[in-house]
Amino acid sequence: MADTTINVISICGSLRKGSYNRIVMKALPALAPEGMKITEAPPFNEFPLYDADIQNSTGFPAPVQKLADAIRAADGVIFNTPEYNFGVPGALKNAIDWVSRVPNQPFVGKPIALQSASPGPVGGARVQYDLRRAMVFLDALTLNKPEIFIDNCAQRIDDKTGKITDEATVGFIKQQLAAFAKFIAAHGAKS
Ligand SMILES: Cc1cc2nc3c(=O)[nH]c(=O)nc-3n(C[C@H](O)[C@H](O)[C@H](O)COP(=O)(O)O)c2cc1C
Repeated sequence: MADTTINVISICGSLRKGSYNRIVMKALPALAPEGMKITEAPPFNEFPLYDADIQNSTGFPAPVQKLADAIRAADGVIFNTPEYNFGVPGALKNAIDWVSRVPNQPFVGKPIALQSASPGPVGGARVQYDLRRAMVFLDALTLNKPEIFIDNCAQRIDDKTGKITDEATVGFIKQQLAAFAKFIAAHGAKS
């Protein structure tokens, strides 16, 4: 029988160990609907700063190729990211820039879901519009709604235990993942 599992990878935009966004990312597998498997994407913390001269002399660094391959193989991608200065954190943007230059660019037609957490009052809403814009250029298909903006996240996520303590937040995430499964079924096609 054909494997009907929806394989999704998650990418965290924060590099720090105690990241609230990473805690949310780690909670996702247990919140996914039946039939959806969520695994963490290969890391991008060792990517060099994007430089076309590196690409043209020694080729794509192995970790870039690894992330690009993982994105290409996945049925969907979830970004869990903080907002830095109203936009995409530099390390994540650098990762997207590298991956976007790999031949057979892996974001084409790829279903994307966005989640952000911030100790501030708007939950990183602005980073999502910044990220959506990059995904438009890359011809990805970003889920419109439900949106997950975890505002005042220090009150909703316990960084000592690494758990989401706010049940409403857990419920919203489950709703988005269920919608993402339907979105992938309706629009997804691996490139
Ligand atoms: C360089 C930098 C810029 C930031 N800019 C914003 C911002 O524009 N909006 C916001 O809500 N929080 C901003 N913050 C605060 C982050 O939301 C906060 O540090 C958050 O905990 C980072 O996410 P993480 O816990 O997943 O690492 C900024 C933090 C840093 C380090």
